[in-house]
Amino acid sequence: MSMDLRAWMQPHLERVEQALAACIAAESPAQLGQAMRYAVLDGGKRLRPLLVLATAEAAGDGESSQAALNAACAIELIHAYSLVHDDMPCMDNDVLRRGKPTVHVQFGQAQALLAGDALQTLAFEILTPSQASVSAPVQADCVALLARASGYQGMAGGQAIDLASVGQSLSEAQLRQMHRLKTGALLLCSVQMGAACVPGVSLQVQTALKRFGEALGLAFQVVDDVLDVTADSATLGKTAGKDEAADKPTYVALMGLDAAKAYADSLAAQAMQALTETGLPEARLAALRALTAMVVERNN
Ligand code: IPE
Ligand code: IPE
Ligand code: MG
Ligand code: MG
Ligand code: MG
Repeated sequence: MSMDLRAWMQPHLERVEQALAACIAAESPAQLGQAMRYAVLDGGKRLRPLLVLATAEAAGDGESSQAALNAACAIELIHAYSLVHDDMPCMDNDVLRRGKPTVHVQFGQAQALLAGDALQTLAFEILTPSQASVSAPVQADCVALLARASGYQGMAGGQAIDLASVGQSLSEAQLRQMHRLKTGALLLCSVQMGAACVPGVSLQVQTALKRFGEALGLAFQVVDDVLDVTADSATLGKTAGKDEAADKPTYVALMGLDAAKAYADSLAAQAMQALTETGLPEARLAALRALTAMVVERNN
C-alpha cells in the first residue's frame, strides 16, 4: 500500500472522536446519557465514519465538510446502537464489547434498550442541524440513506434473518443476503452518505461507489465470521467463538476457513476494481484503498 494509512487516519479519527464526544451530554434523565456515552466512546475502529470521510474526500475536492463529519457521527451512532441491541440477552447474549462489559451488563437491560433507541434517534438529529451549516437537500439525502440502511430493508432486517437462521443451514445466496443486510447496508451507506455530502457527483462515480460499498460491506462481515474463529477474545474485544457456540450460519460454517478467507480477498479485489471504475484520480482514492486493505487484513 503506497499510502500511509496511519498518518491519514490520525487527524480524521481525532475529528470523529471529538465530534462524537460532543454529541452526547453526560447529564441526562436518569443517567441515560451515561449509558449512551459508554456505548459510543472509548473504543471501536470507527471504520464507518472513516469511510464517510474518505469517500467525501475522494468524490470532492479533497476536503471533507461539516456535512460529512455529521454523517460520520450519525452512522457510528447507528452502528453503536446496533451493537448494544445485538449484545442483549434476547439477541446474541454477549457480555464483552470493545474490551468492556456490554451495556446491559453495566447498566441493565432496560437502560441498554433505551440507550440503543436514543442513539438511533440522535443520529437523525445530528443529520439535521438547525444551523445552516448543511444544505437542506444534503440533509434530506443523508436522512433517506441512513433510514433505509438501518431499517427493515437494511440492518434491522438482516438482524431478523440472523436470529431466524440459528441452527439452520443457509444456502450461499441466503447467507450473502443476510450479511448484505445486517452489516453490508451500513457500510454501503457510509460510502453513499460520503458521496451525498459532495454536490454534483456524477452518475458514473455514484454507480462505481455503490459497487465498492457493496463488495466492501460483504467482505467486512465475511472477515468478522473468520475472526470469530481465528482470533482470541482479548484481541477482538468481544467473545471469540460465539458463532459456532450459538449455531449461527456463517461463511466459515458454510465453506470452511480457508475458502472464507479466499472469498473475503476476492471481495476486496472487487472493491478495489470498483474504485478504479470511479475514474477518480488515484491520489484521491488512496485512503479508500487503504481502508479496503485494512478490512481484510485486520485482526480485530
Ligand atoms: C462489529 O463491527 C459488528 C459487525 C457489524 C460485524 P466492527 O468490527 O466495526 O465493530 P467496532 O465498531 O470496531 O467495535
Ligand atoms: C452483528 O453481527 C451485526 C450488527 C450488529 C448489526 P454479529 O453478531 O456477528 O456482530 P458481533 O460479532 O457480535 O460484533
Ligand atoms: Mg449478531
Ligand atoms: Mg453479535
Ligand atoms: Mg460476529
